[in-house]
Amino acid sequence: MPATRAATPDDAPAVTRIYNEGIADRIATFEARERTEDEVAERLRGPHPAVVALDERGKVVAFAWSGPYSTREAYATIGDHGVYVAREARGRGYGEAALRALMNAARETGMHKLTSRVFVDNAASRRLHARCGFREVGLHRRHARLDGEWRDVVTVEVLLDEGED
Ligand SMILES: CC(C)(COP(=O)(O)OP(=O)(O)OC[C@H]1O[C@@H](n2cnc3c(N)ncnc32)[C@H](O)[C@@H]1OP(=O)(O)O)[C@@H](O)C(=O)NCCC(=O)NCCS
Repeated sequence: MPATRAATPDDAPAVTRIYNEGIADRIATFEARERTEDEVAERLRGPHPAVVALDERGKVVAFAWSGPYSTREAYATIGDHGVYVAREARGRGYGEAALRALMNAARETGMHKLTSRVFVDNAASRRLHARCGFREVGLHRRHARLDGEWRDVVTVEVLLDEGED
């Protein structure tokens, strides 16, 4: 499994490049506006967990992060997450390494669930989430528009404290 570590604001240049590739691909997120390094650095300051995965030379080639699911206090331990791999590094296990590292980091900070919405046609992301133990909760039809087109999304979730009541 590739090496991973907690992300820091110093990772902003690499994370921004990878995130903006994912935004430009139009397969990963409803975000349509590319992010600046300052915006990403702010998010990497926390408090929500973020991790990076490294190639064999120590270069950041993937990241996963979590953000608040809701402003409601009752949902405070649910994380709304994302996972992104640099275009040139996809399909080599970095996504799995990053997502598993995020699950561990989220569990350690007391979160009980990660959830996200995946475009129905994002086969790589659906496979990745299934491999990491996520279940597909259901399909949202016409959930939002991307470039003016309605898109269907599958909600995925994993319980981080499975086995505890
Ligand atoms: C989705 C993404 C994070 C997956 O990460 P990855 O490093 O490429 O995937 P991995 O090598 O860890 O493989 C994970 C699983 O996905 C499968 N997979 C990878 N690329 C695939 C593809 N293009 N089509 C179908 N399945 C694919 C792998 O076979 C593996 O499943 P398996 O073990 O059951 O065979 C990555 O491709 C990516 O960054 N895509 C663009 C951004 C994005 O869509 N992010 C997710 C937002 S919800």
